[in-house]
Amino acid sequence: MSETVTTPAGPSNFLSRRQFIQFAAGAVGAAWAGTLLQTKLFPAQTTSQEAAPVTFPLSELPVGGTKTITYGGTQTIVVRTPESIRAFSMVCTHLGCLVQWQEADKSFYCPCHDGRFDQFGEVTGGPPPVPLEQFPVRVEGETVIVGEEA
Ligand code: FES
Repeated sequence: MSETVTTPAGPSNFLSRRQFIQFAAGAVGAAWAGTLLQTKLFPAQTTSQEAAPVTFPLSELPVGGTKTITYGGTQTIVVRTPESIRAFSMVCTHLGCLVQWQEADKSFYCPCHDGRFDQFGEVTGGPPPVPLEQFPVRVEGETVIVGEEA
């Protein structure tokens, strides 16, 4: 004796029109929210050519030390080695997170996607496509000046 088994029609593998519209509206909303969040977290920056120079006493930057400033609206770190003083934007060149200075190995680290830069701002690992932006810096007497004179 054979038994015929019929299975009820299951859910369709395709989206209904209503599901598609809900999905599309959600995707548009998420993209809009992402753009808004990025604008709030990473506001447009002034280019270094427009920014007023930032000065501070050389005594605030000992050899082997760093100092964080805001230059042209950009969080900037000034790094002093025995050989030089350099200023870098702390904005990662991948997607704009802020990099952190790693004192132990004298390098920059971006925690967002494991981006890495050496002490000269050159990419040493991860997804950043280009080096950190570097700003002009000079010492006059006992004063450090980041940026160009207008
Ligand atoms: S934002 Fe820095 S590695 Fe992605």
